[in-house]
Amino acid sequence: MLLHLPGILTPDELAHLRGALDAAGWTDGRETVGAQGARAKRNEQLPDASSLRAELGQVVLAALARNPDYFGAALPLKTLAPRFNRYSDGGEYGFHVDGAMMRSGDGYVRSDLSCTLFLCDPAEYDGGELVIHDTYGEHEVKLPAGDLILYPSSSLHRVAPVTRGARLASFFWIQSMVRDDAERQTLFDLDLSIRQLGGGTSDGAAILRLTGIYHNLLRRWADS
Ligand code: NI
Repeated sequence: MLLHLPGILTPDELAHLRGALDAAGWTDGRETVGAQGARAKRNEQLPDASSLRAELGQVVLAALARNPDYFGAALPLKTLAPRFNRYSDGGEYGFHVDGAMMRSGDGYVRSDLSCTLFLCDPAEYDGGELVIHDTYGEHEVKLPAGDLILYPSSSLHRVAPVTRGARLASFFWIQSMVRDDAERQTLFDLDLSIRQLGGGTSDGAAILRLTGIYHNLLRRWADS
């Protein structure tokens, strides 16, 4: 499932992130990938150990926490601390698959879902599309500032060269309570329908049954 979630950040949060990132010190993005990724990757990142990265990451996590669609779609169990990157001057990241197990503290986070939160408006730069290859073909994603794309970490993807301006984004990985993409999609469809029906004048007993089905499927498919 590819899911576009608009308006994750408020205008104030976006302005705060942009101001801080425009003044930040950046390092070579190849520091955080293996040998295969390092050959394909040409961008800059905030250093992993930087306190700014931690502070801005908290802004992103707090924004995600108040979004019911994000929760319903991702069913996040563990979320890796958000990172920030910048592509400019022809910078790109060739086709790759994200690593399956990501170091986090003393343990690991399994990457089920990859997220990119766009921090620049499309008019600010040329190129920089996130190209995601899945069973239905290739999808080019270039979203308004403050919007997020959620996609399966198993998919082949790349970032096209940025030929004008700069593309700033936050990116991170999620280990979902529900590992399987099709099961997670089914739960999200059901969740959306229940919330939609709940807002109308529909039959309360039917909504109760559907809510029961949702939780019983979640019980079958979720791990904690
Ligand atoms: Ni990637």
